[in-house]
Amino acid sequence: MTVLEHLGDWQRTHLNGTLRVQHVGQTVTLMGWVGRRRDHATATFVDLRDYSGFVQVVFDSARGDGAVYAKARPLRTEYVIAVRGVVVRRAPDAVNPKMETGEIEVHADELRILNDAQTPPLPLDEEKTSTLAGEDVRLKYRYLDLRRPTMQANLRLRAQVTATIRRWMEAHGFLEVETPFLIRSTPEGARDFIVPSRLHPGNFFALPQSPQLFKQLLMIGGCDRYYQIARCFRDEDLRADRQPEFTQLDVEMSFPQTEVLFDIIEGLMVELAQLRGIQVARPLPRLTYDEAMRRFGSDKPDIRFGMELQDISEVVRPADFPPYQAALAAGGCVKAIVARGKADYSRKTLDDFTDWLRKDHRAGGLGYLKVLSDGVQSPLVKSLGEDVARSVVRTVGAETGDMVFIVAGSQPVVAASLGALRVEIARRERLFDPQHFAFLWVTDFPMFEFDPDERRWYAMHHPFTSPREEDLPLLAAGPEQWGKVRAQAYDLVLNGVEVGGGSIRIHRADVQRQVFDALGFSAEAARQRFGFFIDALTYGTPPHGGIALGLDRLVMLLAGMESIRDVIAFPKTAHATDLMCDAPNVVDPVQLRELRLRLDP
Ligand code: AMO
Repeated sequence: MTVLEHLGDWQRTHLNGTLRVQHVGQTVTLMGWVGRRRDHATATFVDLRDYSGFVQVVFDSARGDGAVYAKARPLRTEYVIAVRGVVVRRAPDAVNPKMETGEIEVHADELRILNDAQTPPLPLDEEKTSTLAGEDVRLKYRYLDLRRPTMQANLRLRAQVTATIRRWMEAHGFLEVETPFLIRSTPEGARDFIVPSRLHPGNFFALPQSPQLFKQLLMIGGCDRYYQIARCFRDEDLRADRQPEFTQLDVEMSFPQTEVLFDIIEGLMVELAQLRGIQVARPLPRLTYDEAMRRFGSDKPDIRFGMELQDISEVVRPADFPPYQAALAAGGCVKAIVARGKADYSRKTLDDFTDWLRKDHRAGGLGYLKVLSDGVQSPLVKSLGEDVARSVVRTVGAETGDMVFIVAGSQPVVAASLGALRVEIARRERLFDPQHFAFLWVTDFPMFEFDPDERRWYAMHHPFTSPREEDLPLLAAGPEQWGKVRAQAYDLVLNGVEVGGGSIRIHRADVQRQVFDALGFSAEAARQRFGFFIDALTYGTPPHGGIALGLDRLVMLLAGMESIRDVIAFPKTAHATDLMCDAPNVVDPVQLRELRLRLDP
């Protein structure tokens, strides 16, 4: 058994990853974890790690009386040690250019073994995702996963981001206010997490899906400009960029002009990108919702590459091809994208695309035209006729070697299908520079969205969003016109990810009532759920508006990670569980009794 020692009065003098040639000759005291270890005939080499990186420590049998070499013998990975020694320049053939500290090493004179460790269940010196342990293992032993330099860098970047945000918002006159976690349910489209109340049996709090109503109440309360780095809770189906609890930079201002808000947020984005040395040009580009859907088939378009959707409805109309005719007769469209140089996609790839678009985006099918040097090749040529097929190719500007993909159907299905295919092809073919940051604003969202299954209107952003002032008559005109009402809502998009969304709010009780009405809340239901808020609107509410940015998503993109789980210290799995503490879990029957809750078996 290894004999463990106390730290005593040893004080660390340097972080391991910061030692350089300029420190040669200095005596240093280092602390950290044992990483890789290599044994040579007369010396032991250990990579000593802390959050700043690694340095090579040499325990040489020829140094001093050889005692430190003997003492280093039991060291294993993840033992915690303290070392005193001298920084030495490595021999030229021993320099490791891949290591930041690779020009030097530390020759140990003294060693204290502060703690031992079991063999870790995941490699901690491994940074390549391909060889990294599975995510389940990483999340179960998250405290070990966090020791990896990548995770340390991510957490540190996140802290820099929040520090920058606070500085920026303070400088622009925003007041940081905390809003409560235990609230009454506010609908934002997702399910609430609910919390039973012991003191009021049968009653429940909800955890906030966002501080939306509270920030509006702060404006009514005269706070003028508010921000908060706020935790939000949503019980929704998860994806790589969603967590059941996540963090927003939540912002609200009174007497707002959208231009002023955009300016403040754009300035902040420039600062944040600079943390990674990335330059972002201002003003950020803007697209209306309609244009984004038309050109990119998405309200969060990735504009780092082209491959825009092109409407070929009129080109294919003369062809007697029943699926296209049916789509056009039903008021739909036929659109195409051109995948440059991809005429050689295999049958299997095309089938996979088709199945995926059928399943995930309700596409009726996926047509394609291969543009080859000896003509256009595809089963579609027979259905459309040679002339129409050729005129499609001409219209979309496809050239030899290109593949034209075609989808017909309702506008939303065509947009969703080709929008998704466009992104998938770009990802496979690496059509963009991952270092390029393409922000844009998407504006002029529709106010309402009709759900044909439930036969009712939904607020596209949320029910507190203001219609455009000039569209208020449409709201009053009744359901036939509601589809045309535009909202004063906007999203901030970065590289195809929605990183933020906000709006100018309704500040008049009469308009708020009209919107609740359109959304199918009876006066009674609205009063029951938001009575306090409707009342508040009647006491002199200033015009106000704001935005919330998904902090996890922003940091994920800044850090170049694929999942927001990589920038959250203790995230939930994709199945909304915490593998480390094993939550959610059953609770003691006594707790249930106290809450007067009985489980339905
Ligand atoms: P919204 O619901 O659009 O707006 O949320 C704002 C931003 O929060 C991020 N986000 C998420 N991030 C991780 N996991 C999730 N489950 C998740 N859900 C949302 C996204 C999104 O753009 N109260 C309004 C804002 C406002 O109107 O001011 C709101 O919450 O990046």
